[in-house]
Amino acid sequence: MDGSIAVSMQPERSFLRCDRIVAFVNDEATTTALRTALDDAHLDLRKGNIRHAIRMLETDYELASLIVDISGIDDPIKALEDLARVCPTDVPVALIGDNSDIGFYRAMLRMGAMEYLYKPISRDMINHVLRPKLVGEKPRVDRSGHVVAVCGAQGGAGATSIAVNLALQLADTTKARVALLDLHLQGGETAVMLGVQPGPGLRIALENPERADELFLERAAIEVNDRVRLIAADEALNAELHITEAGVQNVVRLLRNRFNYVLVDLPVPLTPAIQSVVAIARTVLVLLEAEVTGLRNAKALRKAVSLISDKNRMFTVLNRADRAGGLPLETIVKGLEARPDMVIPDLGSGMTQAVNTGVPAFRHVPKLRRHLAPIVQEISGVDTTRRSWMSRLLKR
Ligand SMILES: Nc1ncnc2c1ncn2[C@@H]1O[C@H](COP(=O)(O)OP(=O)(O)OP(=O)(O)O)[C@@H](O)[C@H]1O
Ligand SMILES: [Mg+2]
Repeated sequence: MDGSIAVSMQPERSFLRCDRIVAFVNDEATTTALRTALDDAHLDLRKGNIRHAIRMLETDYELASLIVDISGIDDPIKALEDLARVCPTDVPVALIGDNSDIGFYRAMLRMGAMEYLYKPISRDMINHVLRPKLVGEKPRVDRSGHVVAVCGAQGGAGATSIAVNLALQLADTTKARVALLDLHLQGGETAVMLGVQPGPGLRIALENPERADELFLERAAIEVNDRVRLIAADEALNAELHITEAGVQNVVRLLRNRFNYVLVDLPVPLTPAIQSVVAIARTVLVLLEAEVTGLRNAKALRKAVSLISDKNRMFTVLNRADRAGGLPLETIVKGLEARPDMVIPDLGSGMTQAVNTGVPAFRHVPKLRRHLAPIVQEISGVDTTRRSWMSRLLKR
């Protein structure tokens, strides 16, 4: 066999990169966490566990580091010994398992593991714990704006009301710049609730990403107040729209460059273009009302969101919880197989009046502010739920 044939028999050059990170993991959440936190690394992501890694290393050992799943393995110590026999000694190994015991963690490190993480694994865990060791750099500090996606499990669940008022309250509390992006291009209600009229800019930007730059979007944005801008459309109901995934990604990227928070009123079902917003969102709020339809759809929507995004980023909000005739909370918990993260009661006719007058409910329904406060805190980390000593004194 001459040299040229030998070369052509080699695997692809990129496959042999010495910065290749091989991961054998089993579950969806870990896969997503690795893929998103190491999106710029040479990640060779495979389905499997430590046993599959051992098999691979018998013939293929050109790698910089290895991540392996040990959950469900009967004798992890024995498996690690087997791994040590085939794994190059200079390749650091990170383990992922389901044992949260500190003794187990120490034992894994004593066996020579670079790190041991237990499930559920989130993007932040990979970014902060593994990434610096694997890629040799500090965790990435993403300075672009946080995306908050709001979607309703059923029509009228309150998604737009929450998105509009949350945008206002977030800006008011944190003093940050907030963009409210309404992706319901036909019949969207954010503009109605804010008493403004959108132009054609958003549709153009979503259909022709190459035409939309920051200046374009700035012109298309409607001023709601000093800190809040609305980016919305009001296209005819019979218009044929050609929204592309690239268009949506471009608009979100441009907004994240200019605003600290980008709240998105998200249409359901989640088309591929819409899914890209969910994937990038730091917080996803799934709203439902205490109805059979809401419960059924919320279950499906939560599942769809958790396949695209990190489960830890999803929050389920039960709206109008105590509405007459609604399902009791226990039924909702049983149906969802989880407790809603936030519960907002029915806030009365002030909410509907707000829609009709175009003056956001946030201004004249004080109870709404109180119920939005924990959500603002979750998103921003600013604790607005504690009353000041003055207000506590006055209320006493
Ligand atoms: N907690 C609440 N208490 C009372 N009324 C509410 C509450 N939340 C929302 N509403 C009212 O319910 C109606 C529907 O709300 P909204 O338009 O926000 O829902 P949506 O999920 O965006 O609906 P759509 O599916 O049409 O987009 C509005 O009149 C709104 O004022
Ligand atoms: Mg709506």
